Amino acid sequence: MTDSPLPTSTPAVQASGLERVFGAKDSPVHALSEINMTVGAGEFVSLIGPSGCGKSTLMRLIADLDAPTAGTLEVFGQTASAARIDQDYGIAFQQAGLLPWRTVLQNIALPLELHGVAAAERLARAKELAEMVSLSDFGGRYPDELSGGMQQRVAIARALATKPRLLLMDEPFGALDEMTRERMQTELIRIAAETGAAVVFVTHSIPEAVYLSDRVVVMSPRPGRITDVIDIPFGLDRGEGLRESPAYFERVTAVREALHGAPTARANER
Ligand SMILES: Nc1ncnc2c1ncn2[C@@H]1O[C@H](COP(=O)(O)OP(=O)(O)O)[C@@H](O)[C@H]1O
Ligand SMILES: [Mg+2]
Repeated sequence: MTDSPLPTSTPAVQASGLERVFGAKDSPVHALSEINMTVGAGEFVSLIGPSGCGKSTLMRLIADLDAPTAGTLEVFGQTASAARIDQDYGIAFQQAGLLPWRTVLQNIALPLELHGVAAAERLARAKELAEMVSLSDFGGRYPDELSGGMQQRVAIARALATKPRLLLMDEPFGALDEMTRERMQTELIRIAAETGAAVVFVTHSIPEAVYLSDRVVVMSPRPGRITDVIDIPFGLDRGEGLRESPAYFERVTAVREALHGAPTARANER
């Protein structure tokens, strides 16, 4: 699954000249154009940009749920489909997507089951993961007995079940209230640090992107492309105090300006 040794320099994701065009030749939709992006092993990268700028399309290409029109895409040095077969990544999208007739532990264990892991080992691993997302006491519960935040934590635990070196998360916290969302962000940083997984994370929230990421990739639509990349220099230093620090606000402003233009250009919108 994940234990094959790799040179540490092998990036989790490498996209070069990536294009994705939908639709007929006479009315093409250029969902992605000239996408060049590298996500290092263990790096946390957020994609941010208005609706329709191609964030989900890019995630679907990385996850091998769709194929590019042109360009190359490598996941840990292999094609996206080889990486999928190797279970190099776990996916958590906006809807938790749990199976309602399965308990929390059974949901978490599903990828292991599909991978043919023996029952006892599955259970042990599912319990470990439930503990990691603070759901030890809820292993026997069913999804409709849980809050939205708890369901999302189950989905994240499930995404981690095969110990992926890459987590793909498309607006995973979009449906959560602000307090749950901040708790989930703190938890996600801890989990990513603990497992050493690289994360590609889609969000509409500038503060969320800055809080979580090593780099924020800013995209714009029609055609969907990368317009800016903002480095976030906080490393592992992301305690709760960070959200109130001047350095944090400075980075939030930098991303906001990359997204909307500098203050002078923005004055008219207010
Ligand atoms: N399967 C598809 N068929 C046709 N057009 C699509 C398809 N998927 C996405 N698009 C179009 O590609 C563009 C990017 O969509 P998407 O990646 O979902 O954007 P985002 O996630 O940033 O909101 C949009 O114009 C969308 O309508
Ligand atoms: Mg989307």
